[in-house]
Amino acid sequence: MRHETQETSTEPFGLVTQHMVMSEHLNPNHHIFGGQLLAWLDTDVYLFCSNKLRYKSMVTVSMNNVYFKAPGYLGDIIQIFARLKEVRRSSVTAEGKAVAYDPEKQASREIITCEVTYVAVGPNGRPVRIFSNAD
Ligand SMILES: CC(C)(COP(=O)(O)OP(=O)(O)OC[C@H]1O[C@@H](n2cnc3c(N)ncnc32)[C@H](O)[C@@H]1OP(=O)(O)O)[C@@H](O)C(=O)NCCC(=O)NCCS
Repeated sequence: MRHETQETSTEPFGLVTQHMVMSEHLNPNHHIFGGQLLAWLDTDVYLFCSNKLRYKSMVTVSMNNVYFKAPGYLGDIIQIFARLKEVRRSSVTAEGKAVAYDPEKQASREIITCEVTYVAVGPNGRPVRIFSNAD
């Protein structure tokens, strides 16, 4: 059941973390494996939401609107950005994106965008209300 929106944000994306693409992150086409990007986004967008809301017990309920826009390659520096989209009763949705950043050229190439929804849960794993402490 959907609940009333508690807060909606259109804040700019913030840099969450960076990863170096190593050989173990590649698929047989020598591009970054899509599952690796999803794993980084799942974890890093979680950290972003957890810090923003000051909640540490949340589970991922959905990843939507996943768009693999361009390939990433061995040696790329992958920057993960996130921003809050919506905080509802027990769930929070954030937009995440990964960008391949070239520090020499100071150039960025967007490689994936998605939305991730997390649900705050209590000790029994059931949803609990979020009392938003977002900045
Ligand atoms: C997340 C979970 C606790 C939700 O349980 P549930 O019985 O669906 O709970 P509810 O119906 O009360 O919904 C709780 C919230 O989840 C949201 N929700 C449920 N299914 C959703 C979906 N597919 N997409 C987006 N939000 C969803 C509801 O809208 C609700 O949000 P709100 O309270 O902010 O309005 C349950 O689905 C679960 O345990 N899933 C497994 C989580 C997991 O293991 N993740 C992978 C590892 S982190």
